[in-house]
Amino acid sequence: IFAAVEMAPRDPILGLNEAFNADTRTTKVNLGVGVYYDDNGKIPLLGAVKAAEKARLEAAPARGYQPIEGLAAYNNAVQALLLGKDSALIANGQVITVEALGGTGALKVGADFLKRLNPGATVYISDPSWENHRALFESAGFPVDTYPYYDAATGGANFAGMKAKLESLPAGSIIVLHACCHNPTGADITDAQWEEVVAVCRAKGLVPFLDMAYQGFADGIDADAVAVRAFSASGLQFFVSSSFSKSFSLYGERVGALSIITASKEESARVLSQVKRVVRTNYSNPPTHGGAVVAAVLSSPELRQQWEDELAGMRLRIREMRKGLAERLAARGVTRDLSFVTRQRGMFSYTGLSAAQVEVLKNEFGIYAVSTGRICVAALNSKNLDYVADALASVMKG
Ligand code: LMR
Repeated sequence: IFAAVEMAPRDPILGLNEAFNADTRTTKVNLGVGVYYDDNGKIPLLGAVKAAEKARLEAAPARGYQPIEGLAAYNNAVQALLLGKDSALIANGQVITVEALGGTGALKVGADFLKRLNPGATVYISDPSWENHRALFESAGFPVDTYPYYDAATGGANFAGMKAKLESLPAGSIIVLHACCHNPTGADITDAQWEEVVAVCRAKGLVPFLDMAYQGFADGIDADAVAVRAFSASGLQFFVSSSFSKSFSLYGERVGALSIITASKEESARVLSQVKRVVRTNYSNPPTHGGAVVAAVLSSPELRQQWEDELAGMRLRIREMRKGLAERLAARGVTRDLSFVTRQRGMFSYTGLSAAQVEVLKNEFGIYAVSTGRICVAALNSKNLDYVADALASVMKG
């Protein structure tokens, strides 16, 4: 039965981990996958998480099945983070949330539900976008196309191009939007431009699907929710996938959520009933641990404060690394204007390196980046910064 099975290519992002792990060079640096490492090159276990886990271990809770939609305390905490705790939509029962297996799992549950709802639609993702967006929506059965997004000349967003394309799309088109810390470019649109996106979605009857995997990594919890809040004030219905992989450093626990904003409480009940069918037929119900930990942190004022402080620490360290990299490249004679490295937000920077240059980085220096030229600046630290700057400068000038 497997005779005709072809070898699939390595995953463009997670496949880099496999190659990195097999590399025996001690100087190797993994700037591929979007993971935050501390200044010692370790994935941190946050103090707030450690405290919540200790309490949970001591309480030794039974491990029964969760509800199909996951833990209510977790889902409520997700809604408050996304929409603000005083959101009228939450009070009106216009928001449903299901705990999902990371941001990816949330996108897939949303995509499968949308396919039942709107089978003839086309999905539009940004050009460029996270590699898995296209694969994921295609595997849910949608044709996937793109809208312009990145302006290589400035290292920022091409908003005029994006807007013009959105305005040209047929009603019912599904638009995947990066709510903050655009992946892979780190280039975000402004608050005022988000208002324009909302207006286009309303005027053209588009279906917005916001992907929010990095809340807290640009400016803070509320500031980074500006896109979600703009949509929530608009009266439109929309989807949000969110994740605690990065903000809680809980990558392997797969803690994410799909939230859907509906027109009424009654509509919410119907929508939730259908989304639950999607979950039930995929993985039945989510695992217990990660969601319970996040809910415990977010519902304790002390732990929540500790988490916000730790999150701010990660955010600030990334900013320092951006600055440090831009300064070092300039000091090494890279003449190209690299100020965009410090303007881009979140974990990633789009360096403009070609696939061939990325190969050289890997082969000659043991530095791994995505072939599109995306680097994870959250993997830089005070010890590897000079080495990485040397390598990048030699490749950029070469
Ligand atoms: C990334 O883009 O590197 C992260 O979102 C991890 C992933 O799942 O690809």
